This record gives sequence, C-alpha cells and structure tokens, in this order.
Amino acid sequence: MHLHKYEKIWLAFGMASLVVFLLVIGFAAFWKGTHPQSSLDMIDQNNIEAYDNFKPENLGLQEVADGKYKVNIVASTFNYDFGVDKDEKPVKTIRIPQGSTVLFTITTKDVVHGFQVAGTNVNMMVEPGHISRYETVMKKKGEYTIVCNEYCGIGHHQMFGKVEVY
Ligand code: CUA
Repeated sequence: MHLHKYEKIWLAFGMASLVVFLLVIGFAAFWKGTHPQSSLDMIDQNNIEAYDNFKPENLGLQEVADGKYKVNIVASTFNYDFGVDKDEKPVKTIRIPQGSTVLFTITTKDVVHGFQVAGTNVNMMVEPGHISRYETVMKKKGEYTIVCNEYCGIGHHQMFGKVEVY
C-alpha cells in the first residue's frame, strides 16, 4: 500500500498525540491520584436532612478513629455549610492534622456545584439528588482553598472555604 508523504506525517502526528494524551491521563490518575468521586448514592434534594450525614448537627469535621476523619458538607447557592462552631458561628476553615485520612461527603440542595480543594486531589462535581464522596490523605501541611468550579449562578465566585492541614 502506498502512503502519500503527507498522510504519513499526519498518521505519525495522530499516533503521537494519542500517546501524549494517554501519558497525561496516566500521570493524573496514577501519580497524582486524581479519580472521579463516587456519586452512586441517591438522595431527595428537598429532604437532605433525612440522611444522617446532612443533619445540621452532623455537618463539618468529625474524628471517626485515630487519624481518620470525615467531613460532611451541604452546598447551596452560594455557600458551603460546614456546620457551626461552639459559639454557633458558621465554620469556614476545616482544620485537619497532617497525615490524616479524610472522607469528604457532600450534596447540594439546589443546582450543580463543584468542590475542589485546590492543590490536592480532591475535586468533585456536586449534583442535586446525588451524594458525592471522596477519600484522601492530607499529606502536606498548609492552607488549601476550597473552590466551586462549576458555574452555579451570580454568586458563584463567592463560594469558597478553607482547609488547614497542621
Ligand atoms: Cu457553586 Cu459555583
């Protein structure tokens, strides 16, 4: 079979791009540990408090065992609800000891939101009617900004929070 010179160049370009794309995906998945969240569990978005994790008293950070934590969050326009502190003020910063395993569980009351802890491998889509979960290990000390990365309306840029690993 005869291939024209330009066809050969194009074929080589196509194959090289495929290899590059696979390497990029492989790097993100196996080296950086980025995976899609679990969102198999369904929930009634108009009655999220029927689900234990999202009862007001269960929101925010809880220690479940030595070095193991869970964080329950409710997203809504335009806020993340991490519960309240002992002075009944809304929690804005989640403080986690370095090296802990943390399970984030989040749902939304209204529209699609994002939940990304910038600089870590936590990056979830939060869909109405679904419970999104992601477990990670907080390896490095520092402050990490939580951002909503799905455009959810006029106050989208005001949806943020903070994780502090100490
Ligand atoms: Cu919530 Cu953008």
